[in-house]
Amino acid sequence: MAGLGGLGHLAVKMAVSLGADTSVISRSPGKAGDARELGAQGLIVSTAPEQMADARDRFDVVIDTISAPHDLGPYLRLVAMDGTLSHLGHLGPVTVETTDLLVGRKKLSSAGSGGRLATAAMLEYCGEHGITADIELLPSTRVNEALDRLRRNDVRYRFVLDMSDLD
Ligand SMILES: NC(=O)c1ccc[n+]([C@@H]2O[C@H](COP(=O)([O-])OP(=O)(O)OC[C@H]3O[C@@H](n4cnc5c(N)ncnc54)[C@H](OP(=O)(O)O)[C@@H]3O)[C@@H](O)[C@H]2O)c1
Repeated sequence: MAGLGGLGHLAVKMAVSLGADTSVISRSPGKAGDARELGAQGLIVSTAPEQMADARDRFDVVIDTISAPHDLGPYLRLVAMDGTLSHLGHLGPVTVETTDLLVGRKKLSSAGSGGRLATAAMLEYCGEHGITADIELLPSTRVNEALDRLRRNDVRYRFVLDMSDLD
């Protein structure tokens, strides 16, 4: 799982629940403890070249939830033979070195919303397996603090604003 944020932490929970050996790839070494608590085997620091090199060709699937524009190459190189890099965000135009796909017959994919049926099935699965988002509840009056912390990547892993203070 690349990017341990709102989507990423839920994706880790689901992957672990489905029995997948799961690792987190993150620019934030401080999230290593969270990764293990979520059930991942460990955290690969994306800015540490030796850790990325050690993980080369290792994963059948890399789900990329990184919310900022970035080079897909380092993540494609972590994908195993015949594996897939699935990017879930909105990157805009990207350049891909096709050798990163050709060598290892790798696939690049994406996935938007699954639609109502798939969403209903996903929610049912989460209900049955106790999968919920980790949230921090704040009164709505602290919305600016939440926005400021979001910019600093300081949320584990979603803010929920309690609007009852507006009554
Ligand atoms: N396909 C869909 O149906 C769907 C649905 C909802 C959202 N999305 C998209 O999915 C993406 C993730 O959404 P989210 O809500 O999970 O975002 P988020 O909570 O902000 O998490 C994104 C994570 O990406 C990493 N990241 C952020 N900026 C980075 C940078 N400059 N360089 C490297 N890593 C960076 C951080 O993880 P680390 O600290 O671990 O590196 C961050 O926690 C967004 O692009 C969003 O638009 C897609």
